[in-house]
Amino acid sequence: MKILMINGSPHKGNTWRLTEKVKELMETLDNTVIFEEIHLSELDIPFCTGCSVCFRKGHIFCPHNQYIQPIMDKIAGCDGIIFAVSCFQGAVPALTKNFTDHLAFLLHRPRYFDKKALIISTTGGVSANSVTQSLASTLSGWGFNKCYQLPIVALSWNDYKPSEKHIKKAYKISKEFYIDLKSKKLHSPKIGVLIPFNLFQAMCEEYAPGTEYATKDGVFWKQYVGMRYAPGIPLPIYKRVLGKLIYQIGKYLSQKMIVTYKK
Ligand SMILES: Cc1cc2nc3c(=O)[nH]c(=O)nc-3n(C[C@H](O)[C@H](O)[C@H](O)COP(=O)(O)O)c2cc1C
Repeated sequence: MKILMINGSPHKGNTWRLTEKVKELMETLDNTVIFEEIHLSELDIPFCTGCSVCFRKGHIFCPHNQYIQPIMDKIAGCDGIIFAVSCFQGAVPALTKNFTDHLAFLLHRPRYFDKKALIISTTGGVSANSVTQSLASTLSGWGFNKCYQLPIVALSWNDYKPSEKHIKKAYKISKEFYIDLKSKKLHSPKIGVLIPFNLFQAMCEEYAPGTEYATKDGVFWKQYVGMRYAPGIPLPIYKRVLGKLIYQIGKYLSQKMIVTYKK
């Protein structure tokens, strides 16, 4: 089993120390797990310029693709990721936001349907849960099958030592994450991810090659025609019906709301 640890904080502080503890706990469950680390602070990824080339032409044309593609490949090549993010002003640090901005196109063209994540955040006093929840909804939008969360109130500036209580909590979540990864079980998607999957699919015709505002979406969704979610992911009948309904709403809206761009 391969786990990619992404440090989305600008230093190896409280959150990274807790993340290393989680790694240690997982090693007690299975010492064959292979962990790989990425520290975003070491990669010097330039700021996303908002050029929208990833949405329109495809992410391989991103001016920063040489930084982003290797990370995407590592995510594709692992079973799960552990994402460590500090809580800065109730939100993810700018470093992580910059990274996720570069991958925002994944909300239009999701993948990673068999990947699972554990998101860890520490905060001085409040909002670690807002941080893990917001990153969990981003990763789910990218296609991630399940996101576990470990938000912790550290009450410290860079001097946090996990208490017995926090270690117990970390062990419980790490164990659930590990067992789920090991089982390779895929979970049915939440309604919140059925919506973009079916809306974007329905709207893709308006952006097909040869149309006035052709985009990469117009090509991407061809592989999912008639599918209410990605193949291989369990989808109960009521979610299929709901997916179809969302798809039909998307079809209706697509003719009224064309997204333009400067040519
Ligand atoms: C720039 C900055 C912003 C912060 N914002 C908050 C905050 O909004 N709420 C809070 O309770 N603590 C806040 N803190 C405290 C950190 O969340 C806390 O020390 C956390 O454990 C830092 O994790 P790290 O050491 O992994 O970076 C902030 C700290 C910094 C440096």
